[in-house]
Amino acid sequence: MTKDWIRQRKRDPYYRKARAEGYGSRAAYKLKEMNSRLHIITTGSRVLDIGASPGGWSKVALETVGPGGVVVAVDLVPMDALDGVKFIPGDIEDPLVLEKVLNICREFDAVISDAAPKLSGNRTLDRGRTLALSWAVLTIASRVLRKRGSVLVKMFQGSEVEELIDEFGPQYSSIDRMKPRSSLQRSIEIFIAFRGKKDDRQIDPGAV
Ligand SMILES: C[S@@+](CC[C@H](N)C(=O)[O-])C[C@H]1O[C@@H](n2cnc3c(N)ncnc32)[C@H](O)[C@@H]1O
Repeated sequence: MTKDWIRQRKRDPYYRKARAEGYGSRAAYKLKEMNSRLHIITTGSRVLDIGASPGGWSKVALETVGPGGVVVAVDLVPMDALDGVKFIPGDIEDPLVLEKVLNICREFDAVISDAAPKLSGNRTLDRGRTLALSWAVLTIASRVLRKRGSVLVKMFQGSEVEELIDEFGPQYSSIDRMKPRSSLQRSIEIFIAFRGKKDDRQIDPGAV
C-alpha cells in the first residue's frame, strides 16, 4: 500500500460510506446497484457468494434475502463472522469445498462472484486467470443453481468476456454486462449477469 493509494482511498466516497454504514468493503455498493437493476437476489433467496471476503457482498445479500433466505460464503481468506452467513474457508475450485457448500444447501437461487485472482500486473495473464476463475464459477453454477436461477460474475474487460458468454450464455435466458458507478473508472472490471437458467441442475452421478 503506497501513501498515494491510502490518500486516494480516504477521499473515496464509497470507501467512507462503507465504513460509516458498517459494510466490510466498498464493493457492497456495486452489488446494491446491480441488484436494484436486475433483481438477482430477492426476499427468501438462497445465495452462494464466491470470493466473499471481507464480506461486503455477503452483508448486502443477507439484508436482501431476509430471515427466510440462505447465504453461504466461500473465500480463500477468512472473513469476520456475519450473523446469518455460513462461511466456508477454501478454494472454490476444490471439490471438497463444493461438497461442504452442498451439505449446507442443496440448491441455490443465485450464485454471485466478485472473486479475483492475485494480480500479477501483466494484463494478459491477469485476464486469463480471471477468465479461468469465472469459468469455474459458471461450471459450479450449472451444478448448484435451480432452474431460472441467476449468476453474477466479475470479469476483466477484453475478448475473454465474449468467450465466457459464448460458452455459458446459451444456458441462460438473458445476459447483461454492467460497470456499476461505484466501480473505479480506472479498473477494467466488468460484471456479467446470466439470468434465467434454462435447465435443471446438472448433477454428476455419484457426486455430491
Ligand atoms: C474483491 S475481493 C471480494 C470482495 C467481496 N465481494 C466484498 O464485497 O467484500 C476478491 C476475493 O476473491 C477471493 N478469491 C480469489 N480466488 C478464489 C478462489 N479460487 N476461491 C475462493 N475465493 C477466491 C480472494 O481471496 C478475495 O478475497
